[in-house]
Amino acid sequence: MSHISVLLNETVDALLADRNTGVYIDGTFGRGGHTRLLLSRLDENSRVYAFDKDPQALAVGADLEREDARFKIIHASFADILDEMHKLGITQVDGVMADLGVSSPQLDQAERGFSFMHDGPLDMRMDNSQGQTAAEWLVEIDEEELANVIFKYGEERYSRRIARAIKQAGYIETTAKLAEIVKVAHPKWEKNKHAATRTFQAIRIAINKELDDIDAFLPQAVELLKPEGRLAVISFHSLEDRLIKQFIQKESTLPEDTGWGMPSKQIDTRQLKKISRIRASEEEVRLNPRSRSAWLRVAERLSLKGAE
Ligand SMILES: C[S@@+](CC[C@H](N)C(=O)[O-])C[C@H]1O[C@@H](n2cnc3c(N)ncnc32)[C@H](O)[C@@H]1O
Repeated sequence: MSHISVLLNETVDALLADRNTGVYIDGTFGRGGHTRLLLSRLDENSRVYAFDKDPQALAVGADLEREDARFKIIHASFADILDEMHKLGITQVDGVMADLGVSSPQLDQAERGFSFMHDGPLDMRMDNSQGQTAAEWLVEIDEEELANVIFKYGEERYSRRIARAIKQAGYIETTAKLAEIVKVAHPKWEKNKHAATRTFQAIRIAINKELDDIDAFLPQAVELLKPEGRLAVISFHSLEDRLIKQFIQKESTLPEDTGWGMPSKQIDTRQLKKISRIRASEEEVRLNPRSRSAWLRVAERLSLKGAE
């Protein structure tokens, strides 16, 4: 099953900023939509490195490696981007992008266990070659901690009742079973949303450490960027977008008060300049409803202080 890339041209345009050569990183290869467009815009001396946790994405990346000598796929989390690039002897790049969250094939294949729309084993791991499945994780976690996860990552008001029902159910083998348990425990269903939507999102984020990975990734990506190199990140829900927004805000704002009576200009620690914040066009949302919640944020690395 294929994946329709979101904000495809917008992301690649922002990342390249009129360049047609250089070294770039795609932190989330997926099915390679953004990577392929990027490669098509770059000259023969350029390189693109892509990361993905998912073995199926890796297989598609390996095919592309054979097709295009400028490309390399890496089976790792983007949370380890700095180490992985250093292992390859690369310390500076011209642009880093990420298109966060799950791919359509992950959601659509019942056996990946991400969705209550397609009944399958309760798995939810992006990297299903290692770690605990959601079913195993739910057995181990205690009720209070589970309620906190559902509240924090699902923004679900009824997290306590739902956590209690899940823990009372024992080992939950399938996505349909989990959806049913949540539905029964949920006192108030939202319009146009399955009762289990928020709980599934929360468990998925926890299992894959999605927000921790983003937190780890952002400063490492900036460290890799050359002056004028671009960071472009697409997010799909407010928890992700908040992290990116706050990070860019912090790195692009002068510290107000040093506490040492020094004018803040003298210790300018800013690393980034905000470039843009882009949403999918009406036309794109019509063709691909998944793009409705997408936000692309773009920032540029400032020249190194002291080196000017
Ligand atoms: C939305 S899809 C990317 C789609 C891609 N841009 C395309 O056009 O085909 C997100 C991908 O990122 C991967 N992913 C999510 N978090 C990751 C992480 N921390 N490290 C590496 N890959 C990750 C997922 O496995 C998934 O394949």
